[in-house]
Amino acid sequence: MTRPLIVPSVLPADFAVLGAEVEALCDAGVDRIQWDVMDGVFVPNLTMGPDVIAAARRHSTVPFEAHLMVVDPDELIPRYIDAGCDLVIVHVEACTHLHRTLARIRDLGGRSGVALNPHTPAAMVRHVLEETDLVLAMTVNPGFGGQQYIAAVEPKVTELRAMIDERSLSIELEVDGGITDETIAGAAAAGADVFISGSWLYSHADGKRAGVDLLRRRATAARGRSGEGRGVA
Ligand code: DX5
Repeated sequence: MTRPLIVPSVLPADFAVLGAEVEALCDAGVDRIQWDVMDGVFVPNLTMGPDVIAAARRHSTVPFEAHLMVVDPDELIPRYIDAGCDLVIVHVEACTHLHRTLARIRDLGGRSGVALNPHTPAAMVRHVLEETDLVLAMTVNPGFGGQQYIAAVEPKVTELRAMIDERSLSIELEVDGGITDETIAGAAAAGADVFISGSWLYSHADGKRAGVDLLRRRATAARGRSGEGRGVA
């Protein structure tokens, strides 16, 4: 398992100065930047298109990932890869042919990811793990930042960790939603190794770099206590 990766969502950013916001995240030592793409149908919110991400790309020294919370990801995947997203995450709930969709992301030169809403069982991705580079277990119902962390998802994170480890697959296990300096320990102990934080990181009193460092320390400590974060009780 890799060292914990801290990946901010730009949802809370000031979009009037997005380039500067991206530069500030890079200066804070983040590992990647996540773009929450919402179509107003799959989730009741509407956010950024590929042109916004392409404009931000030249301000970043770290990779971009696109979290597609959309009803028709197949149509949009090429545009977000062309906009500069190295990793594209689709929702299992939005894919009729998930195996084909994940393979297509890779064929287009991206790394593939699949997200599961809180209610979606881990078994839904069991047969596509060889096609994916990242599994995202949502710890809120997608659509908005600033929501409460759903700890009931932790057993699913542990189940996903076991599925990945039993086949020795090189897959990142990401959690997204309500991740703070308090909740990150439970997610890390359950087996997650990539952590999305938006509102907590943006509102951290000591600034983003201190927030990133604190999240990384808390995740590392929690994994140490739980036996490398493999969901060991
Ligand atoms: C929900 C979004 C949020 C965001 C992080 O659709 O995906 O989870 O990235 O939001 P916070 O960290 O504010 O819960």
